[in-house]
Amino acid sequence: MNSQGPLNWNRWAKALARVGILLCGLPALALAQSPPDQRVVLVSGATGTQGGAVARELAQRGYRVRGLTRNVDSEAARALAAQGIEPVQGDFDDVGSLDRALAGAYGAFSVQQYRGIGVEAEIRQGKAFAAAAQRAGVRHFVYTSVAKAPLNTGVPQFDSKLEIEAYIRTLDLPYTIVRPASFMSYLDEAREQALRQGFLSGPLPPNQVRNYIAPRDIGRLVGEIFDAPEAWIGAVIDIAGDAFSYADAAALLSRHLGRPITYRQIPWDEYALSASEMEQARDRWYIEHDVATDVAPLRERFPWLTSAEECPIRGHGARGLPGTVGAGRRRARRPLAGPALGYNFCNRTVGA
Ligand SMILES: NC(=O)c1ccc[n+]([C@@H]2O[C@H](COP(=O)([O-])OP(=O)(O)OC[C@H]3O[C@@H](n4cnc5c(N)ncnc54)[C@H](OP(=O)(O)O)[C@@H]3O)[C@@H](O)[C@H]2O)c1
Repeated sequence: MNSQGPLNWNRWAKALARVGILLCGLPALALAQSPPDQRVVLVSGATGTQGGAVARELAQRGYRVRGLTRNVDSEAARALAAQGIEPVQGDFDDVGSLDRALAGAYGAFSVQQYRGIGVEAEIRQGKAFAAAAQRAGVRHFVYTSVAKAPLNTGVPQFDSKLEIEAYIRTLDLPYTIVRPASFMSYLDEAREQALRQGFLSGPLPPNQVRNYIAPRDIGRLVGEIFDAPEAWIGAVIDIAGDAFSYADAAALLSRHLGRPITYRQIPWDEYALSASEMEQARDRWYIEHDVATDVAPLRERFPWLTSAEECPIRGHGARGLPGTVGAGRRRARRPLAGPALGYNFCNRTVGA
């Protein structure tokens, strides 16, 4: 026997152990670096505004996208299928359905609605979805919160997101949190009001500046986040594409509609007659707090962010126009199958 036999054997054993560890780790490593078409992402809210933008964006980037919906037979769910997004049945209040929908998923996008159910239910649902993602071993969980969440506003639909964020941090779940500003699709509603009444109105002062984000840009950002988990896991980002006042919105619509549109501030007492308690809490807070931030640094970091001025131009049927949603991370986008869905003024999918 070779005198160095035992030594060699030890070396071999150690080398084999290293290879074993490497081999065990390989599936995980391979998944993180696998091309998008091998990564399944379950997108909640896929029939809605944010989830819809995210699902379309991920599908365009080549991910295998499942769209969570309570009703796979709805018109909105069928529209998903036509875009290469697989509608899967699931309800935040039915844990078993979440486990089934998340089975085998690499990633998940989480959005909850408080309207119609209240913030307690929103919090319960947000926690249930995150817990299900942890059980499923999801490798990248993206939660969409709200820009005002960390400000301790006392506004229920802002504070609820902070509670969900805090819960996600307690889990063993690789997460990214996106905090969007108000949706720029406000301009859609403003345009409709301008066309109907010839003026805009609301309880906030005309010079009240707020930050806005086009929902399509939330989709784009989330696409970039899923593309680069190494850069984004553990990150929290506020996202806004522009800041403008109600007077600015009226001026913008005047230019685009070719007729003068003004903004009229509704007296608070009059507004309070028809507004819900949550709407009043939100708008009272806006009146008392000037929190608009400079969006220039974000626009520099993400040059594709939609400005209010671009919104009407990019909005109409924008999906097929070059440069409208951008070129992703320099990866060719896969054209979506099926009939094109129309967008109205600024990003809302018609019918969503
Ligand atoms: N509006 C703004 O300016 C603004 C700004 C920042 C953040 N936010 C926040 O955005 C959130 C709403 O997002 P959104 O506007 O994208 O929502 P949305 O358009 O109203 O869509 C709601 C989505 O949630 C799904 N959904 C509802 N209940 C569900 C349940 N029990 N189980 C599973 N899915 C369910 C719906 O799918 P199905 O009906 O197909 O099941 C739908 O796709 C709110 O929390 C709001 O605070 C809003």
